[in-house]
Amino acid sequence: MTSPAPVLTIDGPSGSGKGTISQAVASRLGWHYLDSGAIYRAVGQAAAWEGLDLSDADAVAACATRTEIRFEPGPDGEPHVLVNGKDATRALRSETAAAAASAIAAHPPVRAALVQLQLGFRRKPGLVADGRDMGTVIFPDAAYKVFLTASAAERARRRYKQLKDKGVSVNLDSLLHEIAARDERDAGRAVAPLKPAADAVILDSTGMPITEVIERVLAVLPASLRPR
Ligand code: C5P
Repeated sequence: MTSPAPVLTIDGPSGSGKGTISQAVASRLGWHYLDSGAIYRAVGQAAAWEGLDLSDADAVAACATRTEIRFEPGPDGEPHVLVNGKDATRALRSETAAAAASAIAAHPPVRAALVQLQLGFRRKPGLVADGRDMGTVIFPDAAYKVFLTASAAERARRRYKQLKDKGVSVNLDSLLHEIAARDERDAGRAVAPLKPAADAVILDSTGMPITEVIERVLAVLPASLRPR
């Protein structure tokens, strides 16, 4: 029997730097990358495009099942998200899309509808899975798990800079408020709440340069898997 591909899960709250760190780690390892947040954002967006009531769990779950979500490298080399064939990358970056994602992500049937899609990303030589419940629900058997966090103020500042760099206009105070509200909802929901897996290494990246965070995450892997 062949062994399944190794998985490194990186969970944590919004603005903890998971996206940047996970992509950098995946690229250093030559592993696949799963941006599970983008999947929830895509379903929230698809449901909004269809004019669905986001509080209707069954209607949104049906929408999650019929929506085709694909990741492809865009002309800028960055991963792009195609929702039913349409490039939704830019729309998905907004805080409105994030809030819609967080709302639909609280529905158990929606989460259930997205499990197989996420499991399909586990392929050789390995997978870096970025999200909220990667180590607790989707890949509980992952051998390597990190819970990445940072202070709320630092997370809001990072997100502010990231959005500004991408040309999205934002206000720091309202961003801090939105991030706190989203984290509260993600951590307080009954299904797959935001919390570290019992066997996760907790990494607080407040005040830490990105290069150091990447090294610390790579250090969770055995030497035989680490890039030279
Ligand atoms: O990571 P990102 O900010 O793109 O995620 C957007 C929202 O999607 C989160 O606030 C959370 O509600 C939801 N999400 C989730 N489970 C995941 C990834 C994201 O519930 N694994």
